[in-house]
Amino acid sequence: DHWLVFDWFKLIPHDCYKTMSDDKSNMVTCTAPVNIAVIKYWGKRNEELILPINSSLSVTLHQDQLKTTTTVATNRSFEEDRIWLNGKEEDISHPRLQSCLREIRRLARKRRNDTHQSFDVAGLSQKVHICSINNFPTAAGLASSAAGFACLVYTLARVFGVEGELSAIARQGSGSACRSMYGGFVQWIQGERDDGKDSLAQQVEPESHWPELRILVLVVSADRKPIGSTSGMQTSVKTSALLKHRAEGVVPKRMGDMIEAVCQKDFTTFAELTMKDSNQFHATCLDTYPPIFYLNSVSQQIINVVHRYNRHYGETRVAYTFDAGPNAVIFTLEQHFSEFVQVVQHFFPSEINGGKFIKGLPVDDANLSEGL
Ligand code: DP6
Repeated sequence: DHWLVFDWFKLIPHDCYKTMSDDKSNMVTCTAPVNIAVIKYWGKRNEELILPINSSLSVTLHQDQLKTTTTVATNRSFEEDRIWLNGKEEDISHPRLQSCLREIRRLARKRRNDTHQSFDVAGLSQKVHICSINNFPTAAGLASSAAGFACLVYTLARVFGVEGELSAIARQGSGSACRSMYGGFVQWIQGERDDGKDSLAQQVEPESHWPELRILVLVVSADRKPIGSTSGMQTSVKTSALLKHRAEGVVPKRMGDMIEAVCQKDFTTFAELTMKDSNQFHATCLDTYPPIFYLNSVSQQIINVVHRYNRHYGETRVAYTFDAGPNAVIFTLEQHFSEFVQVVQHFFPSEINGGKFIKGLPVDDANLSEGL
């Protein structure tokens, strides 16, 4: 189980908590990790329900790496639903937030009716205050909306005593969020139904399945991405013939191959499919009109370093993947991890934070031509 549920007062006090009540009886805090897609989701067939044009597969990171922490409180004295993200109040009327709140309250009402609870036991007559904090740059292509909506839905469910399949609700916050509802290796099955009831996340293998797998996040830039995923994929669906080919002709087989590689712990196949899928996703961004550029020159240098490293050993020891931003996520196995970290440090003089994050940019391009 990759969920952590805290007592609220263990959190660092934050301004927005002041608006919460002293009566802590109905306050829950949870954390959710981000997930990194190795078969990418890009393109919707239904914008409102967030139904994708292809299935996708991701690896959920450990809790202590990149995570969102969310506190939800209900109280009789609250006059309206409110939300703070990283300490700043945001507009609760956002349709995706409203979808998640509406669906959780619908399930809570159903449960109350089924169990003959009184109206107030489930806190259903009360408004919620939500505080959510990321420990990583928001909207920098590091899957912040995935962890954010997964955490919101899970925490709301705890507050209202709702159990069961919640990935279809998280999906309505942000597509990729449905995959953060589970740990380990998770597929989001695109589904066929128009109402989205079969568009769900499912665990392929738990995180304990492949303990040698290591993930390294190379933070190239913490800036907000110029084009968000939602609008970027809308333009791609409208304009890219390559995206249509990818969704229909490439991903269905690739999903099967990837699941097989994960189950067999076949790193070579896992790594090659991961890199090819990332490259095809960015190719569809380039095929979008007007084109979308998420990778920058540092990202391209990282790609080159990975291929040179693999070529040097004559085997695929390291893989990269990039989402809607320039930051690289590197997959490797334990036995190659520290050597590859040294390679990265050599090419990209940097600061290492906790051995897991590498921040910083190369001093100059010339630096990249040395070594290996
Ligand atoms: C490139 O889930 O952020 O990270 O559903 O519109 O909220 P919305 O999009 P979002 O898209 C993620 C795209 C991706 C690939 C992936 O995570 O599969």
